[in-house]
Amino acid sequence: MAKLNINGSVRDVDVEPDTPLLWVIREHVGLTGTKYGCGVAQCGACSVHLNDAVVRSCSVRVADVQSSDRIVTIEGLSATSSHPVQKAWAALDVPQCGYCQSGQIMAAAALLRRNPKPTDADIDQAMTNICRCGTYQRIRAAVHMAAETTRSGALEPAAGKSTL
Ligand code: FES
Ligand code: FES
Repeated sequence: MAKLNINGSVRDVDVEPDTPLLWVIREHVGLTGTKYGCGVAQCGACSVHLNDAVVRSCSVRVADVQSSDRIVTIEGLSATSSHPVQKAWAALDVPQCGYCQSGQIMAAAALLRRNPKPTDADIDQAMTNICRCGTYQRIRAAVHMAAETTRSGALEPAAGKSTL
């Protein structure tokens, strides 16, 4: 039995210690916005925040997560899809098929939290998530837009929720 804080709610989950966090999030808690792509920490589709840093949840064992750790999935990033990154993604129509995009958004939000004004090189270095549809140019533009709107105060993150 593991006790996990996911999007602010504490959940008891009855799983083996080496169960990947991704399976707990999707299969036990029912939060299916976090996607399975490769299962081996390569694609980033399963990206979530663990104590504000982005991690690839397919490669995090439940046994390695403490009950005091804060896990945030795409569903918990903002109450109404109003996080600046989500707003920028919508404004620039970033997704194509969409499969990789929750992971991309989580990676972008974590990047902007630690680097509010990233360069293209910073984005390329931090955003290693794979997009089979090739939306990389729009992703980069949206990261810059989210950074700019956050700095200018044009978009406010949801109260009490994860911010950049
Ligand atoms: S499913 Fe986790 S990195 Fe691909
Ligand atoms: S939008 Fe299709 S894989 Fe990225």
